[in-house]
Amino acid sequence: MGRLLFLLLWALLQAWGGAEVPQRLFPFRCLQSSWFANSSWTRTDGLAWLGELQTHSWRNGSDTIRFLKPWSQGTFSDREVKTLQQLFRVYRDNFTRDVKKFAEMLHLAYPMEVQVFTGCEADPGNASNNFFHVAFQGRHIVSFQGSSWEPAQEAPDTANSVIRVLNQDQGTKETVHWLLNDICPQFVSGLLESGKAELEKQVKPKAWLSRGPSPGPGRLLLVCHVSGFYPKSVWVMWMRGEQEQPGTQRGDVLPNADETWYLQATLEVAAGEAAELSCRVKHSSLEGQDIVLYWGGSQASVGLIVLAVVACLLLLLALIVGVTFWFKRQPSYQGVL
Ligand SMILES: *[C@@H]1O[C@H](CO)[C@@H](O)[C@H](O)[C@H]1NC(C)=O
Ligand SMILES: *[C@@H]1O[C@H](CO)[C@@H](O)[C@H](O)[C@H]1NC(C)=O
Ligand SMILES: *[C@@H]1O[C@H](CO)[C@@H](O)[C@H](O)[C@H]1NC(C)=O
Ligand SMILES: *[C@@H]1O[C@H](CO)[C@@H](O)[C@H](O)[C@H]1NC(C)=O
Repeated sequence: MGRLLFLLLWALLQAWGGAEVPQRLFPFRCLQSSWFANSSWTRTDGLAWLGELQTHSWRNGSDTIRFLKPWSQGTFSDREVKTLQQLFRVYRDNFTRDVKKFAEMLHLAYPMEVQVFTGCEADPGNASNNFFHVAFQGRHIVSFQGSSWEPAQEAPDTANSVIRVLNQDQGTKETVHWLLNDICPQFVSGLLESGKAELEKQVKPKAWLSRGPSPGPGRLLLVCHVSGFYPKSVWVMWMRGEQEQPGTQRGDVLPNADETWYLQATLEVAAGEAAELSCRVKHSSLEGQDIVLYWGGSQASVGLIVLAVVACLLLLLALIVGVTFWFKRQPSYQGVL
Protein backbone atom coordinates (compact mmCIF):
# COMPACT_ATOMS: atom_id res chain seq x y z
CA MET A 1 0.00 0.00 0.00
CA GLY A 2 2.79 2.37 0.98
CA ARG A 3 4.57 1.65 -2.28
CA LEU A 4 1.46 2.24 -4.34
CA LEU A 5 0.97 5.57 -2.66
CA PHE A 6 4.61 6.35 -3.26
CA LEU A 7 4.25 5.49 -6.95
CA LEU A 8 1.16 7.65 -7.27
CA LEU A 9 2.89 10.51 -5.52
CA TRP A 10 5.87 10.03 -7.76
CA ALA A 11 3.72 10.07 -10.90
CA LEU A 12 1.98 13.18 -9.59
CA LEU A 13 5.25 14.95 -8.90
CA GLN A 14 6.54 13.98 -12.34
CA ALA A 15 3.46 15.29 -14.08
CA TRP A 16 3.38 18.42 -11.98
CA GLY A 17 7.06 19.22 -11.69
CA GLY A 18 7.94 18.68 -15.35
CA ALA A 19 11.71 18.58 -15.65
CA GLU A 20 12.22 19.26 -11.93
CA VAL A 21 13.81 16.47 -9.93
CA PRO A 22 11.40 15.72 -7.08
CA GLN A 23 13.78 16.40 -4.20
CA ARG A 24 11.83 14.70 -1.44
CA LEU A 25 12.50 11.36 -3.11
CA PHE A 26 16.27 11.82 -2.98
CA PRO A 27 17.19 11.97 0.69
CA PHE A 28 20.90 11.84 1.42
CA ARG A 29 21.70 9.13 3.95
CA CYS A 30 25.01 8.16 5.55
CA LEU A 31 25.70 5.04 7.53
CA GLN A 32 28.74 4.73 9.75
CA SER A 33 29.47 1.39 11.36
CA SER A 34 32.16 1.01 13.97
CA TRP A 35 33.31 -2.30 15.33
CA PHE A 36 35.29 -2.48 18.56
CA ALA A 37 36.63 -6.06 18.90
CA ASN A 38 38.57 -5.08 21.99
CA SER A 39 40.17 -1.91 23.30
CA SER A 40 42.97 -2.09 20.72
CA TRP A 41 41.28 -3.45 17.57
CA THR A 42 38.67 -1.16 16.02
CA ARG A 43 37.47 -0.22 12.58
CA THR A 44 35.02 2.34 11.17
CA ASP A 45 33.50 2.24 7.71
CA GLY A 46 31.05 4.58 6.06
CA LEU A 47 28.62 4.56 3.14
CA ALA A 48 26.39 7.25 1.67
CA TRP A 49 23.43 7.19 -0.71
CA LEU A 50 21.46 9.80 -2.57
CA GLY A 51 18.02 8.25 -3.03
CA GLU A 52 18.83 4.70 -4.06
CA LEU A 53 22.24 5.43 -5.62
CA GLN A 54 25.39 4.87 -3.63
CA THR A 55 27.53 8.00 -3.88
CA HIS A 56 30.35 7.75 -1.31
CA SER A 57 32.26 5.20 0.69
CA TRP A 58 34.91 5.51 3.35
CA ARG A 59 36.92 2.46 4.34
CA ASN A 60 38.73 2.33 7.66
CA GLY A 61 42.12 1.93 5.98
CA SER A 62 41.74 5.13 3.95
CA ASP A 63 42.33 8.75 4.89
CA THR A 64 39.93 10.00 2.24
CA ILE A 65 36.31 9.49 1.32
CA ARG A 66 35.85 7.77 -2.06
CA PHE A 67 33.62 9.45 -4.61
CA LEU A 68 31.72 6.65 -6.33
CA LYS A 69 30.03 8.85 -8.95
CA PRO A 70 31.59 11.44 -11.26
CA TRP A 71 29.15 13.89 -9.64
CA SER A 72 29.76 12.88 -6.00
CA GLN A 73 31.45 16.19 -5.20
CA GLY A 74 28.24 18.04 -6.06
CA THR A 75 28.88 21.75 -6.54
CA PHE A 76 31.40 22.03 -3.69
CA SER A 77 34.86 23.32 -4.57
CA ASP A 78 37.99 21.24 -4.02
CA ARG A 79 38.86 23.50 -1.10
CA GLU A 80 35.48 23.03 0.59
CA VAL A 81 35.76 19.27 0.11
CA LYS A 82 39.25 19.29 1.61
CA THR A 83 38.10 21.22 4.67
CA LEU A 84 35.20 18.83 5.25
CA GLN A 85 37.43 15.81 4.73
CA GLN A 86 39.79 17.12 7.42
CA LEU A 87 36.83 17.64 9.78
CA PHE A 88 35.57 14.09 9.23
CA ARG A 89 39.03 12.63 9.83
CA VAL A 90 39.21 14.36 13.21
CA TYR A 91 35.64 13.26 13.92
CA ARG A 92 36.56 9.63 13.19
CA ASP A 93 39.52 9.72 15.57
CA ASN A 94 37.53 11.54 18.25
CA PHE A 95 34.63 9.13 17.88
CA THR A 96 36.84 6.07 18.35
CA ARG A 97 38.56 7.66 21.33
CA ASP A 98 35.28 8.74 22.95
CA VAL A 99 33.54 5.38 22.56
CA LYS A 100 36.50 3.66 24.23
CA LYS A 101 36.36 6.25 27.02
CA PHE A 102 32.63 5.60 27.58
CA ALA A 103 33.24 1.86 27.56
CA GLU A 104 35.75 2.31 30.36
CA MET A 105 33.56 4.72 32.30
CA LEU A 106 30.48 2.45 32.13
CA HIS A 107 32.35 -0.89 32.29
CA LEU A 108 30.90 -1.98 28.93
CA ALA A 109 32.01 -5.37 27.62
CA TYR A 110 33.74 -5.82 24.25
CA PRO A 111 33.03 -6.56 21.44
CA MET A 112 30.89 -3.50 20.73
CA GLU A 113 29.15 -2.30 17.62
CA VAL A 114 28.16 1.35 17.21
CA GLN A 115 26.21 2.58 14.19
CA VAL A 116 25.49 6.14 13.20
CA PHE A 117 22.72 6.82 10.73
CA THR A 118 22.47 10.40 9.58
CA GLY A 119 21.31 12.45 6.64
CA CYS A 120 19.17 15.22 5.25
CA GLU A 121 17.20 16.43 2.28
CA ALA A 122 17.84 19.43 0.09
CA ASP A 123 15.41 21.65 2.01
CA PRO A 124 17.52 24.26 3.80
CA GLY A 125 16.29 25.34 7.19
CA ASN A 126 13.78 22.55 7.62
CA ALA A 127 15.02 20.85 10.76
CA SER A 128 12.46 18.02 10.45
CA ASN A 129 14.24 16.92 7.27
CA ASN A 130 17.49 15.95 8.91
CA PHE A 131 18.39 13.29 11.43
CA PHE A 132 21.32 11.87 13.37
CA HIS A 133 20.72 8.58 15.20
CA VAL A 134 23.17 6.45 17.13
CA ALA A 135 22.70 2.75 17.85
CA PHE A 136 24.69 0.68 20.33
CA GLN A 137 24.74 -3.13 19.86
CA GLY A 138 21.98 -2.71 17.28
CA ARG A 139 19.73 -0.72 19.58
CA HIS A 140 18.81 2.94 18.98
CA ILE A 141 20.02 4.89 22.03
CA VAL A 142 20.57 8.55 21.18
CA SER A 143 19.62 11.16 18.57
CA PHE A 144 20.56 14.73 17.84
CA GLN A 145 17.38 16.81 18.09
CA GLY A 146 17.31 20.52 17.36
CA SER A 147 20.54 21.52 19.03
CA SER A 148 21.26 18.86 21.63
CA TRP A 149 21.54 15.12 22.26
CA GLU A 150 18.37 13.32 23.40
CA PRO A 151 17.86 9.71 24.55
CA ALA A 152 15.88 7.43 22.23
CA GLN A 153 12.61 6.07 23.62
CA GLU A 154 13.98 2.57 24.04
CA ALA A 155 17.34 3.71 25.47
CA PRO A 156 18.58 2.02 28.67
CA ASP A 157 19.23 4.23 31.72
CA THR A 158 23.00 4.04 31.22
CA ALA A 159 22.55 6.11 28.04
CA ASN A 160 21.65 9.12 30.19
CA SER A 161 25.14 9.47 31.65
CA VAL A 162 26.60 9.39 28.11
CA ILE A 163 24.10 12.01 26.94
CA ARG A 164 24.96 14.27 29.90
CA VAL A 165 28.63 14.20 28.89
CA LEU A 166 27.83 14.74 25.20
CA ASN A 167 25.64 17.73 25.97
CA GLN A 168 28.45 19.45 27.92
CA ASP A 169 30.50 19.62 24.70
CA GLN A 170 29.12 22.82 23.21
CA GLY A 171 31.61 22.88 20.33
CA THR A 172 30.64 19.46 18.97
CA LYS A 173 26.93 20.28 19.28
CA GLU A 174 27.43 23.44 17.25
CA THR A 175 29.40 21.57 14.61
CA VAL A 176 26.76 18.84 14.28
CA HIS A 177 24.01 21.45 14.08
CA TRP A 178 25.90 23.33 11.38
CA LEU A 179 26.60 20.16 9.37
CA LEU A 180 22.99 18.98 9.52
CA ASN A 181 21.25 22.30 8.92
CA ASP A 182 23.59 24.20 6.61
CA ILE A 183 26.23 22.02 4.99
CA CYS A 184 24.20 18.88 4.34
CA PRO A 185 21.24 20.55 2.53
CA GLN A 186 23.67 22.68 0.48
CA PHE A 187 25.66 19.62 -0.46
CA VAL A 188 22.51 17.68 -1.42
CA SER A 189 21.25 20.56 -3.59
CA GLY A 190 24.56 20.43 -5.44
CA LEU A 191 24.35 16.65 -5.85
CA LEU A 192 20.82 16.93 -7.29
CA GLU A 193 22.15 19.43 -9.81
CA SER A 194 25.33 17.64 -10.83
CA GLY A 195 23.79 14.15 -10.80
CA LYS A 196 20.52 15.16 -12.44
CA ALA A 197 20.92 13.03 -15.59
CA GLU A 198 21.61 9.85 -13.65
CA LEU A 199 19.00 10.54 -10.98
CA GLU A 200 16.30 11.00 -13.60
CA LYS A 201 17.34 7.88 -15.51
CA GLN A 202 14.47 5.55 -16.49
CA VAL A 203 15.14 1.92 -17.40
CA LYS A 204 12.28 -0.32 -18.58
CA PRO A 205 11.68 -3.65 -16.85
CA LYS A 206 11.68 -7.00 -18.63
CA ALA A 207 9.16 -9.52 -17.35
CA TRP A 208 8.69 -13.27 -17.73
CA LEU A 209 6.68 -16.04 -16.13
CA SER A 210 7.72 -19.39 -14.72
CA ARG A 211 6.37 -22.19 -12.60
CA GLY A 212 7.69 -22.34 -9.04
CA PRO A 213 8.19 -25.47 -6.94
CA SER A 214 4.85 -27.24 -6.52
CA PRO A 215 3.17 -26.14 -3.27
CA GLY A 216 1.21 -29.45 -3.10
CA PRO A 217 -0.83 -31.92 -5.14
CA GLY A 218 -3.11 -30.18 -7.63
CA ARG A 219 -1.64 -26.76 -6.79
CA LEU A 220 0.55 -24.45 -8.87
CA LEU A 221 2.93 -21.68 -7.89
CA LEU A 222 2.95 -19.03 -10.60
CA VAL A 223 6.01 -16.78 -10.62
CA CYS A 224 6.19 -13.41 -12.35
CA HIS A 225 9.75 -12.10 -12.66
CA VAL A 226 10.39 -8.40 -13.24
CA SER A 227 13.97 -7.33 -13.79
CA GLY A 228 16.25 -4.54 -14.95
CA PHE A 229 14.10 -1.58 -13.95
CA TYR A 230 15.05 1.80 -12.51
CA PRO A 231 13.99 3.62 -10.38
CA LYS A 232 13.16 1.11 -7.68
CA SER A 233 9.49 1.86 -7.25
CA VAL A 234 7.37 -0.67 -9.17
CA TRP A 235 3.90 -2.21 -9.07
CA VAL A 236 3.42 -5.90 -9.85
CA MET A 237 0.19 -7.85 -9.42
CA TRP A 238 -1.37 -11.11 -10.52
CA MET A 239 -4.74 -10.37 -12.15
CA ARG A 240 -7.83 -12.22 -13.33
CA GLY A 241 -9.15 -9.88 -15.98
CA GLU A 242 -9.24 -6.50 -14.21
CA GLN A 243 -9.41 -8.16 -10.78
CA GLU A 244 -6.29 -7.88 -8.62
CA GLN A 245 -5.48 -11.21 -6.95
CA PRO A 246 -5.03 -10.50 -3.23
CA GLY A 247 -3.05 -13.73 -2.81
CA THR A 248 -0.17 -12.17 -4.75
CA GLN A 249 3.03 -12.41 -2.68
CA ARG A 250 5.61 -9.78 -3.43
CA GLY A 251 9.26 -10.62 -2.80
CA ASP A 252 11.90 -8.12 -1.78
CA VAL A 253 13.17 -5.72 -4.41
CA LEU A 254 16.71 -6.97 -4.98
CA PRO A 255 19.59 -5.10 -6.60
CA ASN A 256 21.06 -6.22 -9.93
CA ALA A 257 24.77 -5.57 -10.47
CA ASP A 258 24.07 -2.74 -12.94
CA GLU A 259 22.14 -0.48 -10.51
CA THR A 260 18.78 -1.77 -11.71
CA TRP A 261 16.32 -3.80 -9.64
CA TYR A 262 14.70 -7.22 -9.62
CA LEU A 263 11.41 -8.35 -8.11
CA GLN A 264 9.25 -11.43 -8.24
CA ALA A 265 5.58 -11.79 -7.45
CA THR A 266 4.11 -15.24 -6.85
CA LEU A 267 0.58 -16.59 -6.68
CA GLU A 268 -0.50 -20.02 -5.49
CA VAL A 269 -3.57 -21.41 -7.30
CA ALA A 270 -5.40 -24.68 -7.93
CA ALA A 271 -4.08 -26.19 -11.18
CA GLY A 272 -7.43 -25.75 -12.92
CA GLU A 273 -7.64 -22.05 -12.09
CA ALA A 274 -4.39 -20.86 -13.66
CA ALA A 275 -5.82 -20.14 -17.11
CA GLU A 276 -6.83 -16.53 -17.69
CA LEU A 277 -4.50 -15.27 -14.99
CA SER A 278 -2.06 -12.57 -15.98
CA CYS A 279 0.78 -10.65 -14.39
CA ARG A 280 0.57 -6.87 -14.71
CA VAL A 281 3.56 -4.56 -14.24
CA LYS A 282 3.40 -0.80 -13.84
CA HIS A 283 6.56 1.29 -13.82
CA SER A 284 7.35 4.93 -14.42
CA SER A 285 9.57 4.06 -17.42
CA LEU A 286 6.62 2.40 -19.19
CA GLU A 287 4.73 5.70 -19.35
CA GLY A 288 1.36 4.06 -18.73
CA GLN A 289 1.92 1.15 -21.15
CA ASP A 290 1.67 -1.62 -18.55
CA ILE A 291 3.34 -4.95 -19.26
CA VAL A 292 0.72 -7.75 -19.20
CA LEU A 293 1.79 -11.39 -19.44
CA TYR A 294 -0.82 -14.18 -19.67
CA TRP A 295 -0.35 -17.55 -18.01
CA GLY A 296 -0.69 -20.48 -20.42
CA GLY A 297 1.10 -21.16 -23.69
CA SER A 298 3.72 -18.48 -23.57
CA GLN A 299 5.57 -19.91 -20.59
CA ALA A 300 5.59 -23.55 -21.78
CA SER A 301 8.30 -25.21 -19.77
CA VAL A 302 11.88 -25.02 -21.04
CA GLY A 303 11.87 -28.82 -21.34
CA LEU A 304 9.02 -28.69 -23.85
CA ILE A 305 10.71 -25.99 -25.91
CA VAL A 306 13.96 -27.98 -26.04
CA LEU A 307 12.01 -31.08 -27.09
CA ALA A 308 10.27 -29.15 -29.85
CA VAL A 309 13.54 -27.72 -31.16
CA VAL A 310 15.22 -31.14 -31.11
CA ALA A 311 12.25 -32.66 -32.96
CA CYS A 312 12.45 -29.95 -35.64
CA LEU A 313 16.18 -30.47 -36.08
CA LEU A 314 15.77 -34.26 -36.39
CA LEU A 315 13.06 -33.76 -39.01
CA LEU A 316 15.29 -31.38 -40.97
CA LEU A 317 18.21 -33.80 -40.78
CA ALA A 318 16.02 -36.68 -41.99
CA LEU A 319 14.87 -34.53 -44.90
CA ILE A 320 18.42 -33.60 -45.92
CA VAL A 321 19.65 -37.18 -45.68
CA GLY A 322 16.60 -38.38 -47.62
CA VAL A 323 16.98 -35.83 -50.43
CA THR A 324 20.73 -36.45 -50.79
CA PHE A 325 20.18 -40.17 -50.90
CA TRP A 326 17.40 -39.78 -53.51
CA PHE A 327 19.60 -37.68 -55.78
CA LYS A 328 22.51 -40.14 -55.44
CA ARG A 329 20.22 -42.97 -56.62
CA GLN A 330 19.07 -41.14 -59.75
CA PRO A 331 21.00 -42.04 -62.91
CA SER A 332 23.04 -39.17 -64.22
CA TYR A 333 21.01 -36.88 -66.45
CA GLN A 334 24.16 -36.06 -68.37
CA GLY A 335 24.30 -39.66 -69.48
CA VAL A 336 20.69 -39.53 -70.71
CA LEU A 337 21.01 -36.26 -72.59
C1 LIG B 1 41.66 -7.85 19.52
O1 LIG B 1 40.83 -8.36 18.47
C2 LIG B 1 41.52 -8.77 17.32
C3 LIG B 1 40.51 -9.10 16.24
O2 LIG B 1 39.49 -9.93 16.69
C4 LIG B 1 42.46 -9.92 17.65
O3 LIG B 1 43.16 -10.31 16.48
C5 LIG B 1 43.42 -9.45 18.73
O4 LIG B 1 44.25 -10.53 19.13
C6 LIG B 1 42.68 -8.90 19.92
N1 LIG B 1 43.64 -8.29 20.85
C7 LIG B 1 43.59 -8.45 22.16
C8 LIG B 1 44.61 -7.73 22.96
O5 LIG B 1 42.75 -9.16 22.68
C1 LIG C 1 41.38 1.42 11.28
O1 LIG C 1 42.00 2.67 11.09
C2 LIG C 1 42.74 3.14 12.21
C3 LIG C 1 43.35 4.50 11.86
O2 LIG C 1 42.38 5.33 11.33
C4 LIG C 1 43.85 2.16 12.56
O3 LIG C 1 44.52 2.59 13.71
C5 LIG C 1 43.24 0.78 12.79
O4 LIG C 1 44.25 -0.16 13.02
C6 LIG C 1 42.42 0.35 11.61
N1 LIG C 1 41.76 -0.91 11.90
C7 LIG C 1 41.90 -2.00 11.12
C8 LIG C 1 41.18 -3.21 11.58
O5 LIG C 1 42.56 -2.00 10.10
C1 LIG D 1 38.06 16.33 18.53
O1 LIG D 1 38.61 16.37 19.83
C2 LIG D 1 39.33 17.55 20.14
C3 LIG D 1 39.98 17.35 21.51
O2 LIG D 1 39.06 16.90 22.45
C4 LIG D 1 38.39 18.74 20.12
O3 LIG D 1 39.11 19.94 20.40
C5 LIG D 1 37.77 18.85 18.73
O4 LIG D 1 36.81 19.88 18.71
C6 LIG D 1 37.11 17.53 18.34
N1 LIG D 1 36.70 17.66 16.97
C7 LIG D 1 35.65 17.03 16.42
C8 LIG D 1 35.37 17.29 15.00
O5 LIG D 1 34.94 16.26 17.07
C1 LIG E 1 9.65 20.16 6.43
O1 LIG E 1 9.71 18.77 6.14
C2 LIG E 1 8.59 18.01 6.56
C3 LIG E 1 8.86 16.54 6.35
O2 LIG E 1 9.43 16.26 5.11
C4 LIG E 1 7.36 18.53 5.81
O3 LIG E 1 6.21 17.81 6.24
C5 LIG E 1 7.18 20.01 6.10
O4 LIG E 1 6.11 20.52 5.34
C6 LIG E 1 8.45 20.80 5.76
N1 LIG E 1 8.31 22.18 6.22
C7 LIG E 1 8.69 23.21 5.47
C8 LIG E 1 8.54 24.56 6.11
O5 LIG E 1 9.12 23.09 4.33
